[in-house]
Formats: sequence, C-alpha cells, structure tokens
Amino acid sequence: MDFIGGNDGVETWQEVMLVYTAAMRQVETKLEILNEEFQHIHQYNPIEHIKTRIKTPESIVQKLRRHGLDSTIENMVNHVNDIAGVRIICSFTSDIYRIVDMIEHQQDLKIIGVKDYITFPKASGYKSYHMIVTVPVYLSDRMVDTKVEIQIRTVAMDFWASLEHKLHYKLEGEAPEHIRQELVECARMVSDLDEKMRTLNDEILALSEEHKLP
Ligand code: GTP
Ligand code: MG
Repeated sequence: MDFIGGNDGVETWQEVMLVYTAAMRQVETKLEILNEEFQHIHQYNPIEHIKTRIKTPESIVQKLRRHGLDSTIENMVNHVNDIAGVRIICSFTSDIYRIVDMIEHQQDLKIIGVKDYITFPKASGYKSYHMIVTVPVYLSDRMVDTKVEIQIRTVAMDFWASLEHKLHYKLEGEAPEHIRQELVECARMVSDLDEKMRTLNDEILALSEEHKLP
C-alpha cells in the first residue's frame, strides 16, 4: 500500500491534487449510487444533494501555518484532513444517521475519524456529522489511500452554516457577543424546525402506510 507524499516523496503538487480530486469524485459517485439504490428499494432518497470542493492552496498553507507547520506536501498530506471535501445535504435528521450507516458499510472506505456535532453541537450552534474516510485511488502503477472529509447535515443546518460562515467571514471571526448569542438562538430555531419536520414526516409516512392497506 502506498500513501501520497510518502516513500519516494517526488510527487508534485499537481499529482497530489489529481489524487485528491479523484478520491472526492469516487466518494461522490459512490454516494449517488447508494442514493439511487435506496430510492429503488424504499421509494425515497435520503440525499437531497451533494456538494464537493477541493481546498485552495492558500487555505491549505494557512491551515499548516496555524498548526505551526512548514508548507510541504508531506505535512499537508499528513496534517490537513479536509483537502478533499464532500458535503451531503439531506431533508431530515433521521437521514443523517441512515447515510452514516451506509458509509460505515462500504468495505472500500476506511473511517479514520468521526465528529458528531449533531449530538454534541459546537458552542457556535453549529450542527453537522463529520467523517474523515480514506478511499483507495488506483493509479496506473500504484494504489493510494486518500483522505476525504464528509460533512452530513440537513437543509436547515446547511442554511444556518452558510449564513453563519458568511457573517463570520465579514467580521473576520470577531463577532460581538450579542451577535454570537443571536446566532446560537438561530441554531436552536433551526433545530426546532428540523425536529418538527421530522415528526411531520413520520406522521405522513404512517398515514401513507395506512392508505396502502387493503
Ligand atoms: P477546520 O480547521 O475549520 O477544518 O476545523 P477542524 O479541523 O478543527 O475541524 P472541525 O470539525 O471543527 O471543522 C471542520 C469544518 O466544519 C470547517 O472547515 C467548517 O466547514 C465546518 N465548521 C466547523 N465549525 C463551524 C462553525 O461554527 N460554523 C460553520 N459555519 N462551519 C463550521
Ligand atoms: Mg475545514
């Protein structure tokens, strides 16, 4: 088994980015297939949509600097886990754990880290389920296990996170206390909304099951 940035250490930046892009696409395709299969079996799709992104070089260098590390390919491969990112947006909180379960059952994915910010939200109010997985990328002459960060959240959580991120960015992370408080309050409202939608969905599912009965 091989690891990018390891062994001969001759990989160029472009080669490394090519491998991360491939890993990200593989995870995206895998999730699309699982969603289609789920739809086929249950007439329901747990995934609303998927967003992917590759971290910019500036942002990689910034992160390494924050950790007091030099900007080398080896450091980036070993210490930056979110170079390839896949974000899964779903309708209901219950979908999140359904997707986690599907990912856990994929034999070619290795889960190397999990952060459950759904059960344990961050102080900011942020909610999402994070997984760092590795996926084997097959090149012409070797296989490289490559890290991908997967974030799973509901449409409502995604709405909150994008707005909060924008505000934070504008204030360069220096939001006054009352704004921070308001954002935590908004996150609570988002959670209430998610919970309400989930119970409504359960009720509707039960009703439609009743209608199916002869
Ligand atoms: P980063 O250095 O930001 O990647 O954080 P980390 O390596 O300590 O991991 P963590 O799980 O805390 O956060 C990973 C990612 O989750 C971030 O890059 C964001 O995309 C998202 N995230 C975490 N906390 C927040 C938050 O308070 N607000 C928003 N909008 N996003 C967050
Ligand atoms: Mg990140």
